[in-house]
Amino acid sequence: MNAAPTLAAAPFDAAELAALRADFPILSRTTRSGRPLVYLDSGATSQKPLAVLDAERRFYTEHNAAVHRGAHQLAEEATDAFEAARAAVGAFVGAPAHEVVFTKNATESLNLVAHAFSTSTAYAQRGSAPQGQRVDPRFVLAEGDEVLVTEAEHHANLVPWQELCARTGAVLRWVGVTDDGLLDADALDGLVTERTRVVAFAHASNVLGAVADVARFVAAARRVGAVTVLDACQSVPHLGVDLPALGVDLAAFSGHKALGPSGVGVLWGRAELLEAMPPFLTGGSMIELVRMERSTYAPAPQKFEAGVPMAAQAVGLHAAVDYLRALAPGGRGMERVEAHERALTALLLERLAELPWVRVVGPAAAADRVGLVSFVLEGVHAHDVGQLLDDEGVAVRVGHHCAWPLHRRLGAAATTRVSFGPYNQPSDVDAVLRGLHRAHELFA
Ligand code: ALA
Repeated sequence: MNAAPTLAAAPFDAAELAALRADFPILSRTTRSGRPLVYLDSGATSQKPLAVLDAERRFYTEHNAAVHRGAHQLAEEATDAFEAARAAVGAFVGAPAHEVVFTKNATESLNLVAHAFSTSTAYAQRGSAPQGQRVDPRFVLAEGDEVLVTEAEHHANLVPWQELCARTGAVLRWVGVTDDGLLDADALDGLVTERTRVVAFAHASNVLGAVADVARFVAAARRVGAVTVLDACQSVPHLGVDLPALGVDLAAFSGHKALGPSGVGVLWGRAELLEAMPPFLTGGSMIELVRMERSTYAPAPQKFEAGVPMAAQAVGLHAAVDYLRALAPGGRGMERVEAHERALTALLLERLAELPWVRVVGPAAAADRVGLVSFVLEGVHAHDVGQLLDDEGVAVRVGHHCAWPLHRRLGAAATTRVSFGPYNQPSDVDAVLRGLHRAHELFA
């Protein structure tokens, strides 16, 4: 999370919020119960403003062509739009364009990184890289080397590392979660050893909402020369984030959680590190020279973008980051988004604290969270809670939220999660509380 200036920003006032909400047509629909939609599942995917829908439509109606191919005017325009998106999305997270790789989503970005390790390890074991590539020792794992994650990870930042360990003989270790549902950060130093080669962790937990002490993870990893990988899915759409300034080496996030379209995600990496990584998917567009015997590869980021890329989606994501930045003068929109979502989170936490039959998981203070809150209604299954909230027109996520080990640790089969976007309003919290009271009365 970025420091200081964000504290001065204010939540959106009623007039600003009304104008902002008018940009999201879906928010004015009603649900099957005839009630207005109250969308509180932005942690799963955000809703999209008209600016994003219009940008995608404009791309298809005016410029559509396969990017990085063809000498015709449309191909040139499409390529320019795609590369402009790369520059804008990079700038949104403080990164230069050449450090931004477009992927399908954050899950693909994280798999790409894990595969860089297993491919480099396979090359090293053969004694050479077939395409004449240099094998960077930072990506070579030996039997018994260690990959460190946390017990709070989303499956997307856990399963790829389990697979990597299975392929290489490396050992998976994890920072545990305390009984209070907080990361046991004090255990970190003891868990990072001379064998640690990767430290992969979420910037903000998609269940606990807790924001990680990134500096502490980075310092521990640097001490032993481990590569740091940040899952920034729940931070980039909700906080002003400068990825290079955080000190991590690589980071992943998805466009669809940041008001952008689905089908486009980002891997950001330090240029020098991206150059040291072998490609993930291979084929057209990512090559430099191809002969029947062997091929050489284009520099990053092209090396990681095989096939015709998702140009319209990237253009839509460009519109999304422009939209977010423009929510406050001087491109400081994310400061307002953060302040707004934090105020809603504080309100929800305060209201839930009044209910003795609700157990909130994660940090007690909104200041330590992104805008999401997961909780258990004692004696009521989360799926019943979800059903009753749905009857009220309220969309939340229920289940293990792709963080099954964390739920096991919390002693909860499932939780109910409320997650905010910039378009949510205080009355949305009232709607949640109405549904929870009903669920308690009916089921508890
Ligand atoms: N990763 C998304 C979530 O937490 C889908 O809901």
